[in-house]
Amino acid sequence: MEIQGRIALVTGANRGLGKAIAQALLQAGAAKVYAAARDPRTVDLPGVVPVQLDVGDPAGARALADRYGDVEIVVNNAGISVHGPALGDEAPDVLRRVLDTNLYGILNVSSAFAPVLRRNGGGAFVNVLSVLSWVTLKELTPYSVSKAAAWALTNGMRQELKEQNTQVTGVHVGYMDTDMASHVAGPKTAPADAAAQIVAAIRDGQPELLIDQLSKDVKASLGTPAAAYL
Ligand SMILES: NC(=O)c1ccc[n+]([C@@H]2O[C@H](COP(=O)([O-])OP(=O)(O)OC[C@H]3O[C@@H](n4cnc5c(N)ncnc54)[C@H](OP(=O)(O)O)[C@@H]3O)[C@@H](O)[C@H]2O)c1
Repeated sequence: MEIQGRIALVTGANRGLGKAIAQALLQAGAAKVYAAARDPRTVDLPGVVPVQLDVGDPAGARALADRYGDVEIVVNNAGISVHGPALGDEAPDVLRRVLDTNLYGILNVSSAFAPVLRRNGGGAFVNVLSVLSWVTLKELTPYSVSKAAAWALTNGMRQELKEQNTQVTGVHVGYMDTDMASHVAGPKTAPADAAAQIVAAIRDGQPELLIDQLSKDVKASLGTPAAAYL
């Protein structure tokens, strides 16, 4: 779909990739970008409309959809990465916390805005996932569980929303140069580069976007025997 003149909402738009996506949408000619953040006072990007949203709050997402009925593109970007074990006493609480944002956040926002997008002719959802939808790193099992589940949700959304003409893009990426990966050394994708690819994927109606070589290599390796995985 063409971006020029469209109205978009980006979650977690106060920093990191979300801020870069909001900026890229404006540069691509979006007529209005709602920059959603838990604390809208932290949104400092000129030209956007700051709005309050905690994606873990379904009532808040519905209220936002009621108020902003002109949205045509929704980017589900907000996410958290919390270290935690795969098993044990601590595991369920950590997993619930990560799922609340990374899985239920997408579910809450998309459920609230799907009728808005339908009324506006179809539009687009973009779900920011990860290369860790397909690989599990020690201490990051809860994150991988959330991103694998969000990948499955993305694929289900795409089928369910096809008849209302809403495109759904799943975005997979390795490390990006944001607060989330500030502890990681080594090559990272610049958020502006990732955002430019995401805007192009919306324009082209791509169902899946593999941002970096790592995501491409990991996706291509999924047919290898399970013993090859960490
Ligand atoms: N950085 C990476 O290496 C990497 C790699 C693969 C995928 N990703 C994914 O990329 C997306 C963006 O992450 P990032 O790298 O930009 O990380 P980031 O710099 O840590 O930013 C995360 C954003 O999500 C927001 N957020 C967190 N929980 C929220 C909630 N409950 N409701 C609303 N907003 C919430 C944060 O808002 P606050 O300021 O209020 O905390 C912040 O705006 C995430 O989905 C992440 O999983 C990142």
